[in-house]
Amino acid sequence: MLVLGLETSCDDTAAAVLQDGNKLLSNIINDQSNIHSKYGGIVPELAGRSHIDQVHKVIGCALESAKVKLRDIDLLAVTVGPGLIGSLLVGLNTAKGISYGLGTPLVGVNHLEGHLLAIFLQKQIKFPFISLVVSGGHTDLYRVNNFGQYKLLGRTRDDAAGESFDKVAKMLGHKYPGGPKIEKMAVEGDAKAHKFPRSYLEKTSLDFSFSGLKTSVKNYIDKMQSSNGLSDGDIAAGFQEAVVEVLSRKIIMACEQEGLSRVVVTGGVAANGALRRAVASACSNSGYESWFPDPVFCTDNAAMIACAGYQKYKSSHDSKADLLNMDATANLLL
Ligand code: KG4
Ligand code: ZN
Repeated sequence: MLVLGLETSCDDTAAAVLQDGNKLLSNIINDQSNIHSKYGGIVPELAGRSHIDQVHKVIGCALESAKVKLRDIDLLAVTVGPGLIGSLLVGLNTAKGISYGLGTPLVGVNHLEGHLLAIFLQKQIKFPFISLVVSGGHTDLYRVNNFGQYKLLGRTRDDAAGESFDKVAKMLGHKYPGGPKIEKMAVEGDAKAHKFPRSYLEKTSLDFSFSGLKTSVKNYIDKMQSSNGLSDGDIAAGFQEAVVEVLSRKIIMACEQEGLSRVVVTGGVAANGALRRAVASACSNSGYESWFPDPVFCTDNAAMIACAGYQKYKSSHDSKADLLNMDATANLLL
């Protein structure tokens, strides 16, 4: 079964062809960071316009690289939320048009479910397991009982972890996206030069909060401007260590609370090497197993949407019934 996945929820126009749920034939991503970087964040109107410009080219590349034709596709899977509404609508309406024109079944996929299932592109993990989705818009801890069965255990009460990486990078004069730049700078810095605060909230809470840490970094940078303070590398390393420590600790707490010993970390921030190493070590110290999708499947991509769409279609087969009524939802919940 050939699935064409389509992802346009934010600032990446992506298309992928997936065979039988886990054989990836192509994975094309057109990222818009050159458009948004000078504004210090994503400009929704520009994102939507760029998706319109790119979506057919990206689909064409994905088909060509998979050596298949649009008519060979058995199922279309498209992100229907959460995300920027103008961006989501470009992908959804493109998919609807193809579906209507060729009669190809279409399933709408929750972007977070795509992140949660990205690991299945590479490895079939046994259910149930704990999953942390850590991206620019979300920091959510789930208990994953099966495909389509997710229990939210905790989430951020303010900024997402990726958002705090982006904001701290901006304070240090770097363009969006800031996560990879912080990771690079941190290699040169000393994380112990200054201890930034860790917010664990209530003792048993699996929620997160990163806005206090962000403010603390801001205050530190402002205060140090007039004196000889830490290097940018030290600040990046200290900040990154604070985020990584909280994420790792809460993953272990979630495993203890749920009595589970398998962990998957996914989403854009899961591309971060320091986070991967810290979680892997915390898990192995507790006798737990952990997995991380390859970085290209952590950040936004359409292979994960094809993978989640394939599982959804296998379990429901309700794809054509509501084709024309299918809508995008900016704040879609999982
Ligand atoms: O999953 P993603 O591509 O898009 C969303 O669904 O949000 O995640 C993007 C986020 C951005 O905040 C970006 O700075 C962060 O992931 N990110 C990283 C790294 N690579 C991407 N954060 C820390 N370290 C990285 N290496
Ligand atoms: Zn994402």
